Amino acid sequence: MASGRGSNLKVILAAAKAGNCPVDTRLVISDKATAPALQTARDEGVAQVLHINPKDYADRASFDAACGDAIEQAGCHWIVLAGYMRILSAEFVQRFAGRIINIHPALLPAFPGADGAGDALNYGVKVSGCTVHLVDEVLDGGPILAQAVVPVLDDDTRDSLHARIQSAEHTLYPETLRRMVEDGFHIEGRRVIWNQV
Ligand code: GAR
Repeated sequence: MASGRGSNLKVILAAAKAGNCPVDTRLVISDKATAPALQTARDEGVAQVLHINPKDYADRASFDAACGDAIEQAGCHWIVLAGYMRILSAEFVQRFAGRIINIHPALLPAFPGADGAGDALNYGVKVSGCTVHLVDEVLDGGPILAQAVVPVLDDDTRDSLHARIQSAEHTLYPETLRRMVEDGFHIEGRRVIWNQV
């Protein structure tokens, strides 16, 4: 599921094609008709590419239910949020409990929310990064699967910091998906423990 540029989607599809990430992307959904992610998905031959318009639904729960129905019909196991900028309803999170993964452009639990890169810059931290995590009912709050760190430089703008974070995302996200599928993990308390292979 993606709302924007789709650069994370693109690297995941490329890693899969190169044999480095054993995922079969059955369906890409965007809530935005103009999201470049939709075109990327079509260009890369994703079987089903859908724009589902939130304005066609009375509320978040019914929009999410429509997305969930499409996901089930496509036979997807994992739901990968790649720049998906809508908050998921509790019903959706429960329906796909433990199967939704998100990437966030900050070192959670610091700087959750819509502008992780800008909030980190404005706070004045000297390192930031990205976090891949399981999604639960708490916004950006689920168990952490993986993180990567980048420096914050004195002359950074929000955009330059976000670009550096995105470079780290493009390695971390496909690699984490690969580990999830190939190695597997279990959860102890809040901790994700990777299975040894
Ligand atoms: C990524 O940096 C991702 O971490 C962020 O949106 C960007 C999407 O880029 N996600 C969030 O902020 C979610 N709260 P992309 O469309 O090029 O993959």
